[in-house]
Amino acid sequence: MAVVEGVFSLSGVLLALVLLLVLYVISAGERSSKSSLEPPEPPGPTPLPLLGNLLSLDLKKTHSSLCELARQYGPVFTVYLGPKKVVVLAGYRAVKEALVTQAEAFEDRDITPVFHDLNQGHGLIFSNGSNWRSMRRFSLAVLRDLGMGRSSSQQRILDEARHLLDTFSNYKGEPFDTSAPLNYAASNVISSIVYGTRFSLDDPYFTRMVQRANHNFKLSGSASMQVYNLFPAIGRWVRNREQLVRNSKENQLDMSSLIGRLRDSLNPADCRGFVDAFIMRQHTEQKAAGGSEPVFHEKNLVNCVSNLFSAGTDTTGTTLRWALLLMAKYPHIQERVHEELERVIGSRLPVADDRRLLPVTDAVLHETQRLANVFPMSLPHRTTQDVNIMGYRIKKGTSVFPLLASVLNDETEWEEPNRFHPEHFLDADGGFRKRDAFMPFSAGRRVCLGEALAKMELFLIFVSLLQRFRFTAPPGVSEEELDLTPVVGSTLNPPPHKLCALPRT
Ligand code: HEM
Repeated sequence: MAVVEGVFSLSGVLLALVLLLVLYVISAGERSSKSSLEPPEPPGPTPLPLLGNLLSLDLKKTHSSLCELARQYGPVFTVYLGPKKVVVLAGYRAVKEALVTQAEAFEDRDITPVFHDLNQGHGLIFSNGSNWRSMRRFSLAVLRDLGMGRSSSQQRILDEARHLLDTFSNYKGEPFDTSAPLNYAASNVISSIVYGTRFSLDDPYFTRMVQRANHNFKLSGSASMQVYNLFPAIGRWVRNREQLVRNSKENQLDMSSLIGRLRDSLNPADCRGFVDAFIMRQHTEQKAAGGSEPVFHEKNLVNCVSNLFSAGTDTTGTTLRWALLLMAKYPHIQERVHEELERVIGSRLPVADDRRLLPVTDAVLHETQRLANVFPMSLPHRTTQDVNIMGYRIKKGTSVFPLLASVLNDETEWEEPNRFHPEHFLDADGGFRKRDAFMPFSAGRRVCLGEALAKMELFLIFVSLLQRFRFTAPPGVSEEELDLTPVVGSTLNPPPHKLCALPRT
């Protein structure tokens, strides 16, 4: 049986190779016979059959390889990831022109095989068309009603900050790894918005969900998953894929059981969170439905909850980790922040409105997000129609990577693109200076749905921590030795490290 399977798959691979070669020859012919009046397709390195340009890319840090190619081919270029054609947008002008100026043409998500396996086109992040529009509109409205980015969500974040201060105090100034406490804090903020309650940090149910979501973030950016996305037929041989699907199924089971408990205790007069609002909307839809397909079904509910949970945890937790590491590495900047906090708000609890009185703190947080560049390739988009951009033609249905790393690092926009330089965000009078090329949340119709919440979380948690502690390298490790070389997954993480949180007297 194994031999028959082997022969079958070998002949399948050969057939696929021949087909790809034919397609390659036809498309090369098409490329050369197009009318010279039409704008050309974006330039790029010559692809090999089947492999495309894979040999010129380092899949362990694809974003860096693409930034290199942008130097050679310009702000809009084509690259073949295996047989898959991708147009890369590099630098502030190209990304803004596509995602903002021509928003409609670039609004679709390119749903790669791994994310199709996990979401089947449901939910928020990996869905398109009317399903995505309904889920996005509904989620934004509910999160706004629940106070996202406004003063009412402030309390949830400050509660979480208080727990974090206790956790950090328990280390009594000894070195510790900041990842788990910061991820749990970020995760609990989104959990309290989604379910209406936070979890205790020793609840294994909760810690397992966070660990699986974070593990999946890492796995989905791994080299083997990128290869799987290009050649999905190899799926069953990719161990990371099996693990990813298992993590996702286990998380969805846990989430379904939490949703079940909320459904049983639902009180329509008291909306506890996103899940309650969704269930109430399901009821309204059922009453109104005249035979039309339901949109607010269970699969959309579970996938929205799981999308919000994973999108809201790793990104925010990782950014906070970068912020503390940068403070330990640059103590003189940490002291500037602390001096400003002491002078303006003293030891009272911060509130969101304090941000405009704290330009140095605000600039340090913005610069952290710029340099940390946690989502270097954003998520892939796909063109909804033929479109011309910066003198090039991109066909409908093409996968597009908005290379956020190249925007946050754009040499034409930033005075010191490669160094931690909070002055990027300060004007000559020491006031906060907004910068157009600050795009860690992307832009346009797919812009991060949690941007307002994430900004408030980063601010309130960072300020609470810096008021109470001075962050330093462990004894015997100098500031110079604190390494900033990122570990690449779907997000860019600080390398493993420990810090000391020394209480301020
Ligand atoms: C520092 C923290 C965060 C960063 C840097 C970040 C960044 C991003 C980026 C770059 C995208 C892709 C946008 C695109 O496709 O062009 C995205 C999408 C998304 N983010 Fe965030 N994010 C953060 C926090 C959050 C939080 C706290 C939530 C939870 C509410 C969240 C929910 C989402 C969702 C649901 C999407 C998908 C939007 C869609 O496809 O319509 N994010 N985020």
